[in-house]
Amino acid sequence: MRSRKLNFVSITFVVVLLCQSVHSQLQIGFYRNSCSLVELIVKDVVRDSFIRDHGVAAGLVKLHFSDCFVRGCDASVLIDSTPSNKAEKDSPANNHSLRGFAVIDNVKAKLEDICKGVVSCADIVAFAARDSVEITGGLGYDVPSGRRDGKISLASDTFTNLPTPSFNVDQLTQIFAKKGFTQEEMVTLSGAHTIGRSHCTSFSNRLYNFNGTKGQDPSLDFIYASWLKRLCPQGNTNPNLVVPMDPSSPGSTDTGYYVNVLANRGLFTSDQTLMTNTVTANQVNQSKRNPLLWRSKFAAAIVKMGQLDVLTGNVGEIRSNCRVINS
Ligand code: HEM
Ligand SMILES: *[C@@H]1O[C@H](CO)[C@@H](O)[C@H](O)[C@H]1NC(C)=O
Ligand SMILES: *[C@@H]1O[C@H](CO)[C@@H](O)[C@H](O)[C@H]1NC(C)=O
Ligand SMILES: *[C@@H]1O[C@H](CO)[C@@H](O)[C@H](O)[C@H]1NC(C)=O
Repeated sequence: MRSRKLNFVSITFVVVLLCQSVHSQLQIGFYRNSCSLVELIVKDVVRDSFIRDHGVAAGLVKLHFSDCFVRGCDASVLIDSTPSNKAEKDSPANNHSLRGFAVIDNVKAKLEDICKGVVSCADIVAFAARDSVEITGGLGYDVPSGRRDGKISLASDTFTNLPTPSFNVDQLTQIFAKKGFTQEEMVTLSGAHTIGRSHCTSFSNRLYNFNGTKGQDPSLDFIYASWLKRLCPQGNTNPNLVVPMDPSSPGSTDTGYYVNVLANRGLFTSDQTLMTNTVTANQVNQSKRNPLLWRSKFAAAIVKMGQLDVLTGNVGEIRSNCRVINS
C-alpha cells in the first residue's frame, strides 16, 4: 500500500513536470552544449557557502521567490540601486530581509571564467534555490533553464507584487492568482517558511499592538507568543534581531511549518490565516499528515514559480555582473 502510494506520487510528479516544460520556453539542460558544468558549479558553490553559513539556503530560496514575483524570474532582484534608480532590493519589502547575493556573485565569477557571457543570473538563482531545497532535505528537481536577465529593477514594483506578512487568506489567494497560481499552490509554497529566519520587525505588531489594540494577536498560541516576546522585546530598536521561522527544525525542508500552523504557531498573520478558511485549513492538515505528498507538490510548485514571466530567446541579456545591467 505504502509503495503504491509512493509510486502514484512520483508518477504524478513526473507528469506535472512534463506538462509544465511543454508550456514553457525553458528547457531542462539548456546549457548542455554551451556550459555543461554550470549546474555542478552552482551546486558546489552553494554547498561551500552552506557549510560556512547554513542560513544561505533559506536566503537563496527566498531570493528566487522575491525575484520571480516581481517582473518574472529575470534576476531583477539582484540589481543594485544607482543614483538615479532605487532598485527592488532596496525597497522596504526587501531591504532588511534578503541574503545570498554573495553566493550568486561567486557562482557568476566562476562561470564568467569558463563560459563567458553564457549563463544568465536568473538561471543561477533558480539553480541555487533548487540546490538549497535539496541540501536542506527537500526533494530535488530538474530546473528548466534558458532564462535571460532583465534590465529593469524598480523598488516600487515590490509594493504591488509581493505579499506582506499581514495579508489574510483572501489577499494571499488573490496575489498568487494574479501570478497564475491556485490557492492550493499558495498553501504549498507557503511551506517554504519551514526554513530560515525572520526579523522581529516583520511580525512584532502581532505581539504588542495587534490590529490597533495594545495587546497580542489572540490567534497566536500563548506559550509561543511569550517565547517570541522574549526574543523580540517590546520597544526593541535593534533591527537585526531575528527568530527562526520553524523553531523545532529551522534548517530542514520538512513539514514542520504545517505542524506549527496547526498549533497556532504560525509566525506571520499570512501563515496563521491559512487556518481561517476551511479549504486551506484542510490543505495544511493534509500536508502535515502526508509529508511525502507535500515534498513533491512543493517541488512541482517551485518549478512552476521558476517559469513565471521569464524572458527567453533574444529578449533581455546575459549580465556579466549580476548586480549591474550591461552597458
Ligand atoms: C505567502 C506569502 C508570503 C509572505 C507574506 C512571505 C513573507 C516573508 C517574510 C516577512 C519573511 C521574513 C523576512 C525577514 O524579516 O527577514 C519571509 C522569509 C522567508 N520566506 Fe517568505 N513569504 C511568503 C511566501 C514565500 C514563498 C512562496 C517562498 C518560497 C517558495 C518563501 C520563502 C521564504 C524563506 C525561505 C524565508 C526565510 C529567509 C531567510 O532565512 O533569509 N516565502 N517571508
Ligand atoms: C529600508 O528602507 C526604509 C524605507 O526607505 C528605511 O527607512 C529603512 O531604514 C531601510 N532599512 C534598512 C535595513 O536599510
Ligand atoms: C480588527 O479590528 C476591527 C475593528 O475593531 C475588527 O472589526 C476586526 O475584526 C479586527 N480584525 C482582526 C483580524 O482581529
Ligand atoms: C485533520 O485531519 C484529520 C483526519 O482527517 C482529522 O481527524 C482532524 O480533525 C483534522 N484536523 C484539523 C485541525 O482539521
